[in-house]
Amino acid sequence: MKKDQYILGIETSCDETAASVVKNGKEIVSNIVASQIQSQKRFGGVVPEIASRHHVEKITIVIEEALKEAKLQPKDLDAVAVTEGPGLVGALLIGINAAKAFAFANGLPIVGVHHIAGHIYANELVQSMEFPLLALIVSGGHTELVVMETHGSFKLIGETRDDAAGEAYDKVARVLGLPYPGGPEIDRLATESDGEIEFPRAWLEAGSYDFSFSGLKSAVINYKHNVEQRGESIEPAHVAAGFQASVVDVLTSKTLKAAKEFGVKQVIAAGGVAANGQLRKSLEDVFENEGIPFYVPPISLCTDNAAMIAAAGTSMFNAGKRGTLAMNGNPGMELKSWH
Ligand code: KG4
Ligand code: ZN
Repeated sequence: MKKDQYILGIETSCDETAASVVKNGKEIVSNIVASQIQSQKRFGGVVPEIASRHHVEKITIVIEEALKEAKLQPKDLDAVAVTEGPGLVGALLIGINAAKAFAFANGLPIVGVHHIAGHIYANELVQSMEFPLLALIVSGGHTELVVMETHGSFKLIGETRDDAAGEAYDKVARVLGLPYPGGPEIDRLATESDGEIEFPRAWLEAGSYDFSFSGLKSAVINYKHNVEQRGESIEPAHVAAGFQASVVDVLTSKTLKAAKEFGVKQVIAAGGVAANGQLRKSLEDVFENEGIPFYVPPISLCTDNAAMIAAAGTSMFNAGKRGTLAMNGNPGMELKSWH
C-alpha cells in the first residue's frame, strides 16, 4: 500500500501568516491562518513593513500550531512548500526563511510555490481537477484567466491591464468611506441595496480575454464628485451595487466565452474575490445553464491560506520539483508550468 504523503505549507505573501498540513495533496489535516486585517485596517490597506513585522511575530507559532493540530511530528512530513512569489518581498522572505530553517533542521526537501498556482490548487482540496480546465483567478493582486491541459500546466489567456479586481474593490470601498478590505464590505452593501447606479463595462477589443477595471473605478469617483458638486450626497449601497454588477458581468461573460472557446471540461474560480456572493452565484448560474461543471472553494479557501500552497506544492513535489536553500522571495514571479 502506498504511504500517505504529508506536506507542510507556509504562506506569508501579503497580510495573512498561514501554515497548514495537507495529506496526499487533497485532504486538509490542519489549516492555521493568523490574519493582520484588524491591524492593517487602521491604515486603510497593507503597510509592507507592518506586514513583515506581524509575520515575524507569528510565523513560528503558526507552524507549531499547524503541526500540533495535525498531531504530527516534523519527521512525519515529506516536504515543506512555501510561497516563493509574487507578493511583498519583505513578507515573502519571512515565510521562506522559516521554511528553509524548518526544512534544514528536519532534513526535509523544500518546494517554492507560485501564489496563484496555490489559489488554483485550493480547488483540489474540494474537487478533483478535470482537464482541460479553465481557472478564473481574482484576487487583490491578480485577475487572470488560465487554461490548464493537465496538472502543473498553465496557459495565460487573459489578464488585467491595470487594476486587479480585488484592488478595484478596495479602492472603490475607500472612495465610499468603507473600511479595508473593501471587497466583503461592498459585497454586503450591494446585496442589501434597493437600487443600482449604472456604470460602464470595459469589454476591451473583440475577442480579448483581458480585463480593465481602472475606468470603472474612475467612473465611480466621477459620479461621486458630480453628485457632491450638486450639493447632494451619494447612496453608497446604490454605488456598491452598480460597481459590483459591472465587475460581475464582465468576469462572468469573459469566463463563459473562454470556457466555450477552449472546450473545457471544468471551470474553477479562485482568489479572494471568488468569495464574492454575487460572482459565485452568477458563475454557478451560467455554467449550470451551459452544462459545464463549475467549482469554487469555500470562502475560507478563497482568501489567502497555506493549505492551497501545500496542495500546489504536493503536485510540484510529485512532479520532481525541488527548491534549494538559496531560494529567495520573488515579488514579480511569473506563473510557469511545472509539468
Ligand atoms: O486572495 P486574497 O486573499 O489576497 C491576494 O492574494 O490578493 O484576496 C484579497 C482580495 C481583497 O482585495 C479583498 O477585498 C477581496 O479579495 N475580497 C472580496 C471579497 N472578499 C475578499 N472581494 C469581493 N467580494 C468579497 N466577498
Ligand atoms: Zn492571494
